[in-house]
Amino acid sequence: MHRDLQRIMVSEEAIRERVVALSKEISKDYRKVESLTVIAIVNGALMFASDLIRRFNMPVRFDTLHVSSHNDRESRRDPEIIDSLRISLRGHDVLVIDDILDTGNTLLRVKEMLRKAEPASLKSCVLLDKKERREVEVEADYVGFTIEDEFVVGYGLDFGEFYRNLPCIGVLKAELQNPPIFQ
Ligand code: IMP
Ligand code: MG
Repeated sequence: MHRDLQRIMVSEEAIRERVVALSKEISKDYRKVESLTVIAIVNGALMFASDLIRRFNMPVRFDTLHVSSHNDRESRRDPEIIDSLRISLRGHDVLVIDDILDTGNTLLRVKEMLRKAEPASLKSCVLLDKKERREVEVEADYVGFTIEDEFVVGYGLDFGEFYRNLPCIGVLKAELQNPPIFQ
């Protein structure tokens, strides 16, 4: 285990198994579409999206959306969409992927924005869901794991941009969850 973690919440193997199951479920649901347009919210969803889409068996179009929604432990209420998409969504079946559904502000805002581009359909998939923390009404169509309210890092999730590269998802040691390492 990484020395900065107090415990592992989801192991590398559990992530791998869940990704396989989710990709099968999603491929089945979209088996009749001509193609699926995947929008990954980065940086957080980078690892999850890349593992997931490699297992899809329909034609896939892919783009990323850079959203800044988390300054520290507290989510921002007004997530900022930093860039715009480079591909057209009009008439396409769109699946938006994020790392974690927390207060829900990010996914709500992103879905509102994507809907304006008039996709044929719009669904969402998140790796983690912290149900207790929800502030706005939004649910994901596909969820990897529902977790309790603890601050987690790894497999894309960061604290001050660190730990995204960890292969598992873990709870950061309490003494490290303070501002010093955070720029
Ligand atoms: P929401 O807008 O509150 O739903 O927050 C979503 C974003 O907050 C995610 O995409 C993450 O970037 C970040 N976030 C929420 N909880 C955690 C966590 O436990 N660890 C790391 N990032 C988190
Ligand atoms: Mg994020």
